[in-house]
Amino acid sequence: MNYHIQSYQQYEKARQEAQLNPELFWDKIAQDNFIWKKPWHTTLNYDFSKPEVKWFEGGQLNITENCLDRHLKDRAQQTAIIFEPNDPHSKTEHLSYQDLHQRVCKFANVLQSNGIEKGDRVCLYLPMIPELAVAVLACARIGAIHSVVFAGFSAAALATRIIDCDAKLVITSDGGFRGDKILDLKTIVDRALEDCAMVKTVLLVKRTGNRVVLKPNRDAWIQPQLDSASVDCPAVVMESEDPLFILYTSGSTGQPKGMMHTTGGYMVYSAYTFKNYFQYTEGDVYWCTADIGWITGHSYIVYGPLLNGATTVMFEGVPSYPDFGRFWDIVQKHRVTQFYTAPTAIRTLAKQPLSLVTSRDLSSLKVLGTVGEPINEDAWHWYHEHIGGGKIPVIDTWWQTETGGIMIANLPGIIEAKPTFATKPMPGIQVVLKSEDGQTLEGSAAGSLCIDFPWPSMARTIWGNHNRFRDTYFSTFQGCYFTGDGAIRDDHGNYRITGRVDDVIIVSGHNLGTAPIEDAINEHPQIAESAVVGKPHDIKGQSLCGFVIPKNQSIDASDLLSSVNRLISEEIGPIAKLDQILVVSGLPKTRSGKIMRRILRKIAGGETSNLGDISTLLNPEVVDEIIQQFHQSK
Ligand code: WTA
Repeated sequence: MNYHIQSYQQYEKARQEAQLNPELFWDKIAQDNFIWKKPWHTTLNYDFSKPEVKWFEGGQLNITENCLDRHLKDRAQQTAIIFEPNDPHSKTEHLSYQDLHQRVCKFANVLQSNGIEKGDRVCLYLPMIPELAVAVLACARIGAIHSVVFAGFSAAALATRIIDCDAKLVITSDGGFRGDKILDLKTIVDRALEDCAMVKTVLLVKRTGNRVVLKPNRDAWIQPQLDSASVDCPAVVMESEDPLFILYTSGSTGQPKGMMHTTGGYMVYSAYTFKNYFQYTEGDVYWCTADIGWITGHSYIVYGPLLNGATTVMFEGVPSYPDFGRFWDIVQKHRVTQFYTAPTAIRTLAKQPLSLVTSRDLSSLKVLGTVGEPINEDAWHWYHEHIGGGKIPVIDTWWQTETGGIMIANLPGIIEAKPTFATKPMPGIQVVLKSEDGQTLEGSAAGSLCIDFPWPSMARTIWGNHNRFRDTYFSTFQGCYFTGDGAIRDDHGNYRITGRVDDVIIVSGHNLGTAPIEDAINEHPQIAESAVVGKPHDIKGQSLCGFVIPKNQSIDASDLLSSVNRLISEEIGPIAKLDQILVVSGLPKTRSGKIMRRILRKIAGGETSNLGDISTLLNPEVVDEIIQQFHQSK
């Protein structure tokens, strides 16, 4: 079955087929579009109460043969990855499918010679350089489970993630370039590893030339090992349900959730959605501006594009360097056809002089995408009009680390866009809205966004904590997966995602749990207790506001924000810094002692008069005081 949907009729047909018989639908897609070493005996086996989900059981494959080897026949010389470095004057690198294949095989051999075997966890803490994509694929080549940690996370956050998955080996670099900053990654790794005895080996990629100290018997430069490695590396046979990677996402406790994805289902779904959502065709140049440290980079910089034999751009830098025209320079330079970014970047760029856009030739563009947070109407229109010339479809793609691939979005040119609406689900994705009491809502409605039936790329567990997986995603509403998002559905079946309904706040597209931030704040010697909430921010979408109770009255509030932010940067990373801090004498609590964040959210957002029922609070009197503090702080 050809999996490319090119018309509304084809979309409808696929949707109906998938609805009627999802197993058969995915079975055909998986069979006809990928290379399997052995066919599966059971397409789907699932039980959401456990929860257990298995796709293509009995099937054997290696995802890198699908990403690389199979393309060598027809497109060995075609560019697989265009590497655009941070410095616009440095040389762009074009890695052909053949180059990439060779580099992955060498890298995989080096991992093996360092004792890495199938099932071992390998942590990647790297800047956006080709070696990151190569390392991801090298792990997959030999069945090692990659855990990429975004290189903006602090030493403490990195250590938590290394310990949680018991990684044996870490791959990092002497540093990274990001705008006018140099990231000192090796020092961060050294600090993280003080607490990680399980890591036996650190392999270092040379990037910045920073002076680094190698720890004997642990650290080694990778280049000499690559130089002498063979370009042949047979792909290890993987069962369809063998783990492919772990990727951490924030949750409602301090411990991040290691979402575990498996091989066969993830491959099928990331490839299928890439093809259709970006309508990628031969000769296109696709660019996703995310970092491979996030799921968007996994599915739509590395796996999805390469599975389709596409040319994918990897950009090391930031949108503001050397100026805010950089994204548009890159689009012009590489004649980018599909461009995929986050609303926060669009809002930032929309605030810059339009001449930065109009001076570049963006005529190559065919599809524009957004991901990571709700996109507001103004940003949508600016993107559509000024980047897309009013003609090109904008796709608003809703999905999650947990879902592995895009779940709801308008197929470009096929499903009509509706600004701020992600619109319609992918064929095979059975979206339902639930009321608070667990009823399935019909027609136009607002409720909790759930998925009623398994799809191939759903996460299978939280690494090392299956109970938490069940409790977080499968126990709020019986028999379905709960996303943690709220949504509304219009009369035509279009979905609009309204935001998180749990303790996760999305700041500049990054998911941040309130608990780890509060834990970090509570480390402050002068703070007894804290609560963090999100408030609307015109660029970041949401920004963080902290309410803190001091240990004693004489706290010096002037320097508090910066000292708290230093702590947060150390414990988590600069992405989780507060924009505002308010010193209060108490926090509104329910009789069972839970902080009523709803009230704090409203106050932080400036909505101080309509707070709803506060009579059930244990300490309603603190609310007035908090409001006063809020007004004084302005
Ligand atoms: C939010 C990113 C509105 C949502 C791929 C989700 C969105 C969380 C959209 C997952 C969108 C993502 N519109 N909200 N188009 N895309 N979100 O795990 O709250 O980093 O649950 O995955 O981002 O973020 P994550």
